[in-house]
Amino acid sequence: MRSILIPILSIVSGLAVAARAAEPALIPKPETMTPREGAFVLGPETPILVDAKSKVTGQFLAERLRAATGFKFPVKSPGTTTAGAIWLTTKTSDPSLGSEGYELTVDPDSVVIRAPAQGGVFYGVETFLQLLPPEVFAAQAASGVKWEAPCVEIKDRPRFQWRGMLLDVSRHFFTKEEVEQILDALAMHKINTLHWHLTDDHGWRIEIKKYPRLTEVGAWRKDIGLDWGLDPKASTAYGPDDRYGGYYTQADIREVVRYAAARHITIVPEIEMPGHSGAALAAYPQFSCTDGRGQPSKDGDTGNADDVYCAGNDETFEFLQNVLKEVFTLFPGKYIHVGGDEVSTGFWSKCEKCQARKKAEGLQKDQQLESYFIQRMERFINANGRSLIGWSEIREGGLAKNAALMDWIGGATEGARDGHDVVMTPEADCYLDHYQSNDHAKEPRAIGGFLPLRAIYTFDPIPKNLEPEFQPHILGAQGNLWTEYIPNLRHAEYMIFPRECALAEITWSPKEARNFDDFLRRLETDERRLDQMGVNYRRNPLDIGPGQ
Ligand code: ACM
Ligand code: ZN
Repeated sequence: MRSILIPILSIVSGLAVAARAAEPALIPKPETMTPREGAFVLGPETPILVDAKSKVTGQFLAERLRAATGFKFPVKSPGTTTAGAIWLTTKTSDPSLGSEGYELTVDPDSVVIRAPAQGGVFYGVETFLQLLPPEVFAAQAASGVKWEAPCVEIKDRPRFQWRGMLLDVSRHFFTKEEVEQILDALAMHKINTLHWHLTDDHGWRIEIKKYPRLTEVGAWRKDIGLDWGLDPKASTAYGPDDRYGGYYTQADIREVVRYAAARHITIVPEIEMPGHSGAALAAYPQFSCTDGRGQPSKDGDTGNADDVYCAGNDETFEFLQNVLKEVFTLFPGKYIHVGGDEVSTGFWSKCEKCQARKKAEGLQKDQQLESYFIQRMERFINANGRSLIGWSEIREGGLAKNAALMDWIGGATEGARDGHDVVMTPEADCYLDHYQSNDHAKEPRAIGGFLPLRAIYTFDPIPKNLEPEFQPHILGAQGNLWTEYIPNLRHAEYMIFPRECALAEITWSPKEARNFDDFLRRLETDERRLDQMGVNYRRNPLDIGPGQ
């Protein structure tokens, strides 16, 4: 019995491997995919047909295909036939696919992308691009490429609505072109949220017209070596006078927000408060507890990690509300991130105004001033039609129901049970600034930690002990790239990819579809795409050092 069964089993499993090998190398993996015989071949005259709602998405596809192939790709309304064409439509679509799901059918004589909303049409387009040779992602037209996509039927929708990445532009300033390069690579993987960490102790990066010193002073610092021992020569972010830093004008911000929106990416701005406020307080020390006394540095970093806005001074709130008024006009999304992490109470405990506030509000501990602070800002944010999101620590003093929590050190389960929406970004599972190998001699210096590709791939955003009725509160997950040790774009990309590709799959694909070996197989093709885009990534994802 055994001697017969084993060869049969090995033939069957061999066929399964062969079948899988024939599957297109898509990341993230679609919900359902059925490969078919044959291929659709792009030609110099292939039209892109669109219904009225899909014109912009059709233009987006045409521009990508034109750049890579040199063909024309006229975008037009359909006539009597879709033969030979790529057809993008919202007509007769399946409404259960929601705002981001789609169906894609590639036949030898047509490609049809059908979805109820443009989010889905766009993701159908991104999937179609991944079916084509990796050269389709190149900036310049490639020659000698056979532009064909294998025939396939796909029905696809995301598992989670928040598929994100945090980019810290405070510790290292990335130009708008660099941010846009990252956005392209994120969109290709169906990531839909960029959490833009715009302010922190080490730099204020967003122009605020009412408070020009925020960027005149707060956007620059003299030495990046002081805190983290970085080699200043490795950094790309120097101003004309050799100061380190930079900032986005409001026109820059508008451009990046538009660029992201065209790729169905929402940018969530983070304006940190009440802690991580050193750069702002270097510019406007009157909003600290000490009017700047005890805060020695005059450039865009007070040099004091305990910096905090004064919670006893009403003018602090007026200042932050004026800042947010300008932020509201630049970012159309639902959420405003207010930070709220790692707040030190050192200055509050010695400040007369803060102590008076504590007494007036009946608070027992200095720490409760943080809840007072966040709740006061929350009322303002809500009154302006937006919702607040903040780090784990903001939950402690209670929040309005529409506040969302970003879990980095816990609170997701309790927050979700209390009715708050939650984004998962636990430090152990989602921090892209952590080492990718334990062989530190072979890696660029990182903040610490250890997050190899397999670990992020096996993370599940739903907390283990969260009851099913509360699980819909888990909006999704994001990878966080903090940049204390990251002085340039190439290094940032090395930390982002391929780990963010894994995050894309865990937030988009069905949980039961996850298979790390198959992901690695598809990643080989995905790396060719990143090569074509000029995006850096860590090679050898399994070479994770001794002891592993
Ligand atoms: C954090 O990493 N301090 C949110
Ligand atoms: Zn104070």
